Amino acid sequence: MTEYGWGIIGAGRISREFAADLGNVPDGHLVAVGSRSPDHAAAYAEEVGAARGHGSYEDLVADADVDVVYVGNDHLDHVGAARLAVEAGKPVLVEKPLGTDREQVAELLRLAVERRVFVMEAMWSRFLPGLTELIARVADGAIGTVRTAQLDLGIDQPDPESRLFDPARAGGALLDVGVYPISIARMVLGGLADVRASARMGGGVDLATDMWAVTSDGARVRLRCAVDEPLANTATFVGDAGRIQVDQPLHHPGRFTVEDLAGEVEVVETPFAGHGFEFEIVEVHECLAQGLVQSPRWSHGDTLATHAVMDEVRRQIGLVYPFEDGPPA
Ligand SMILES: NC(=O)c1ccc[n+]([C@@H]2O[C@H](COP(=O)([O-])OP(=O)(O)OC[C@H]3O[C@@H](n4cnc5c(N)ncnc54)[C@H](OP(=O)(O)O)[C@@H]3O)[C@@H](O)[C@H]2O)c1
Repeated sequence: MTEYGWGIIGAGRISREFAADLGNVPDGHLVAVGSRSPDHAAAYAEEVGAARGHGSYEDLVADADVDVVYVGNDHLDHVGAARLAVEAGKPVLVEKPLGTDREQVAELLRLAVERRVFVMEAMWSRFLPGLTELIARVADGAIGTVRTAQLDLGIDQPDPESRLFDPARAGGALLDVGVYPISIARMVLGGLADVRASARMGGGVDLATDMWAVTSDGARVRLRCAVDEPLANTATFVGDAGRIQVDQPLHHPGRFTVEDLAGEVEVVETPFAGHGFEFEIVEVHECLAQGLVQSPRWSHGDTLATHAVMDEVRRQIGLVYPFEDGPPA
């Protein structure tokens, strides 16, 4: 069995959870962390059990014991950090959203394919038991042809200093939270077209965004996200032969129910241990063992399609960040 040594870029909250789950994957181990601050890197390395902390992302990717890189810094700089890994020839798993617009994501993925280096957006939901089972059930016709769906994900962030409210850090609901309902709708129903959006803006970011789209099979989809509204964080898929209700939290559900037209209800329990990142790590290892440059389960095309939807929503709601010249092209 090949053993993979991981290096983590960005010494923040989500990287801490990722490091904990990595400890539960038998053929992976944490080697090092990289932070923009050398002092923080050293303290964080000790906290998460890494052998060393590097005071720059460049040093992290150059570490000879690092075989695979996880990017868990601000999405403002996901593409920049991932590019360092790709240029060093190291496979990389990049937190969601992979970038702030489709163009920059496409450029990174082109480079990765050209250099034959694996890149995957860390859309962990795709690999969890709950959504894996849900996708299979809908594909197998458990509720017939899907007619309509609604997916909501909204948090009520109490801290006004949070990066979620900071336009300079690409804050707002769409990129941080909305990426989930968009991605999950795509996983279950396929491509989304005819996208319409409306947002409540505040402080230079979208605080809450509602989206509507149509799938290639004609299903009508409603998606909602927010950073200052505690939405139900559930989903409903209604087909011509039944209905599926996904319990909260939508992006890592432990249970969903399937109801047929006669009212017969099946409760599908899909619990998992840890934070839920173990499954995406296993996927990366399997892809690397097969020499792939992308995952067939969350491909470059899936990530690009999600970003195309987010670009279109951004154009419609007028979400432009201070580091940009204008809306996504
Ligand atoms: N998968 C999930 O469930 C999940 C959940 C939450 C967040 N996320 C994603 O993970 C990423 C990090 O979120 P978080 O909650 O962990 O945030 P966080 O605790 O604020 O950590 C973000 C890290 O980004 C770096 N950073 C801070 N300001 C930056 C700036 N202005 N420019 C570039 N980098 C900066 C810092 O790394 P240094 O150590 O280098 O200073 C910091 O440790 C976000 O993209 C978010 O969307 C995913």
